[in-house]
Amino acid sequence: MFIEINNLKKSYGQNDSAVQVLNGVNMSVDKGQMCVIQGSSGSGKSTLLNCIGGLETIDSGSVVVNGVEVNTLDSEKLSEYRRSNLGFIFQFYNLIPNLTVRENIRVCEYLSDSPLNLDELIENLGLKEHQNKFPSQISGGQQQRCAIARALIKNPNILLCDEPTGALDSKTSKDILILLEKINKVYGTIMLIVTHNNAIKNMVHKVVYLKDGMVKREYLNESRVSASELEDL
Ligand SMILES: Nc1ncnc2c1ncn2[C@@H]1O[C@H](COP(=O)(O)OP(=O)(O)OP(=O)(O)O)[C@@H](O)[C@H]1O
Ligand SMILES: [Mg+2]
Repeated sequence: MFIEINNLKKSYGQNDSAVQVLNGVNMSVDKGQMCVIQGSSGSGKSTLLNCIGGLETIDSGSVVVNGVEVNTLDSEKLSEYRRSNLGFIFQFYNLIPNLTVRENIRVCEYLSDSPLNLDELIENLGLKEHQNKFPSQISGGQQQRCAIARALIKNPNILLCDEPTGALDSKTSKDILILLEKINKVYGTIMLIVTHNNAIKNMVHKVVYLKDGMVKREYLNESRVSASELEDL
């Protein structure tokens, strides 16, 4: 078990205005697994990712990653945890506008003692001809590929993806998913993918539904299809 979440509770606000968002989440993700997290808007998907990523404090329960209880780490150890384990991909790519594609990726290269090869990664993500352009000069899909490259350059154990295809058309979404699938295969990267898209769950190993702050349903996907075969993206 690589990620283990035990009775995780998380609320925002205090006293009368407190909102209980996660109310006893239990789930786990194994090494090498891709996992989709679904649930209606406001069900706490992003909050859950942020708790796993050590970007939010939790009220009670535990988030254990590779044997380390993340919620007990002090801020220095937490930074180290994020640095050495995690890559984040968001719906809106958060690229640095005045850096080129290549520079945006390089910013994260130094975070690892054993980063992936920058040129290979740029080549693999189809960014070679765009590497010296600025984000404003490339398309949304190309920007998302750049954001993925940036998350991957340090070869993280875990990739946290919050609506990675939310802003993309169906063809570009498929390209991105094929890429994520390839990365998972080659590097065994664990992926937690939050998505409203119903098709994506067909390509992953595990599916988790959140409702009322808890895991309502969870199953292993016995009949995975490859990303290239996904329909209705
Ligand atoms: N920083 C915050 N302060 C207060 N309330 C918050 C904060 N972040 C999230 N919430 C509330 O927590 C609940 C869960 O939010 P969250 O963003 O995790 O939902 P989500 O499942 O990701 O939704 P969506 O599918 O719309 O992205 C919502 O009711 C939201 O308003
Ligand atoms: Mg969200």
